[in-house]
Amino acid sequence: MSSDRKLGFDTLQIHAGARPDPATGARQVPIYQTTAYVFQDADHAARLFNLEEVGYIYSRLTNPTVQALAERVAALEGGAGAVCCSSGHAAQIMALFPLMGPGRNIVASTRLYGGTITQFSQTIRRFGWSAKFVDFDDLAALEAAVDEDTRAIFCETIANPGGVITDLDAVAAVADRVGLPLIVDNTTATPWLCRPIDHGATLVVHSATKYLTGNGTVTGGVIVDSGKFDWSASGKFPSLSEPESAYHGLVFHKALGPMAYTFHSIAVGLRDLGMTMNPQGAHYTLMGIETLSLRMARHVENARRIAEWLEADPRVDYVTYAGLPSSRWHDRVARICPKGAGALFTFAVKGGYDACVKLVDALELFSHVANLGDTRSLVIHSASTTHRQLSPEQQEAAGAAPNVVRLSIGIEDADDLIADLDQALAKATA
Ligand SMILES: Cc1ncc(COP(=O)(O)O)c(C=O)c1O
Repeated sequence: MSSDRKLGFDTLQIHAGARPDPATGARQVPIYQTTAYVFQDADHAARLFNLEEVGYIYSRLTNPTVQALAERVAALEGGAGAVCCSSGHAAQIMALFPLMGPGRNIVASTRLYGGTITQFSQTIRRFGWSAKFVDFDDLAALEAAVDEDTRAIFCETIANPGGVITDLDAVAAVADRVGLPLIVDNTTATPWLCRPIDHGATLVVHSATKYLTGNGTVTGGVIVDSGKFDWSASGKFPSLSEPESAYHGLVFHKALGPMAYTFHSIAVGLRDLGMTMNPQGAHYTLMGIETLSLRMARHVENARRIAEWLEADPRVDYVTYAGLPSSRWHDRVARICPKGAGALFTFAVKGGYDACVKLVDALELFSHVANLGDTRSLVIHSASTTHRQLSPEQQEAAGAAPNVVRLSIGIEDADDLIADLDQALAKATA
């Protein structure tokens, strides 16, 4: 818009990153199903390869459909730039890549998606990276875990599976004090419930597979950079603050300022790791994001009603939803996620492991799948599935103990979901 008016979330989720197609006027962002782009001439090609001019070269690096999505998510998160990736897990590796090197570590929350705990505790070791896991409610322990080789602090806004809300303001204050970037996985909150950059995050990562696309059709990820971190201050981030030999000695931070991290992630990260999002996937996610706020409002309202109903049920031991006044983390809702505590939580079934397994099998409307953030309501027994690779202590710390079931509440009629839980609980606890 020509005026300086700041556009609202509901407008940005439809318009940010998109403009009528310059070639055809197409109103919806076209799916640019192309691998390469014709250069104007040899000089133009050379300028693009030298990063002297921004433009399209090859779709492993950038693609107009994928770029529209990156700009949209950056706008919704309040970031300077964003990069789309082939999955949420790819986004996590890509987010760490410019920061890390052999011997470097990250300090991560114990409350994370089980796949992330496995990625960080095992797979990244093959790169010579490592992770230390700490309860992020213990800020002294978090700060004490940081050492000379630490290069980032990592947590989730609303932690999967327990629905525990992280005190991002407090964690960001620690990150600030120790001069490290804070990376926040905002998958389960989405920017509609929380914008981690407003709370001090440096980078935000997403599994676009979940609420952003919203209907279980796409695997994708996004990294958003706040553009606020000083990569040159400590000498700890040479990929961004020292000359890059593959770009004729370009110093990303000096040359590109707040866009340094984003450009590095494209020009080096996507170029060499190749964890690229495809244009079809980006198209579906763009479609999904157009209704993000409408869906999230319903997800949250349904989750609140169902959590309240479960908490009052004698067949249930406890419910972890932070939106319940009984939750240890309830006081964080107003500050971190004022529109609601998300739609993901666990509850403990009386009867333990066996009752949980029976419940999952007895549910009819809830689908038993390893996913979350779908329009459909989903259920999983984390201890025997997503968090199966973890030790009993890790499962307990992550909120995935054997006696709890995780729900991802969809946007169906809440009464129907409650009726389904009621009949399944009757079978599970008979
Ligand atoms: C919170 C969270 N982050 C990241 C991921 C990984 O995303 P993807 O499955 O798209 O790789 C998941 C997947 O379940 C998740 O729940």
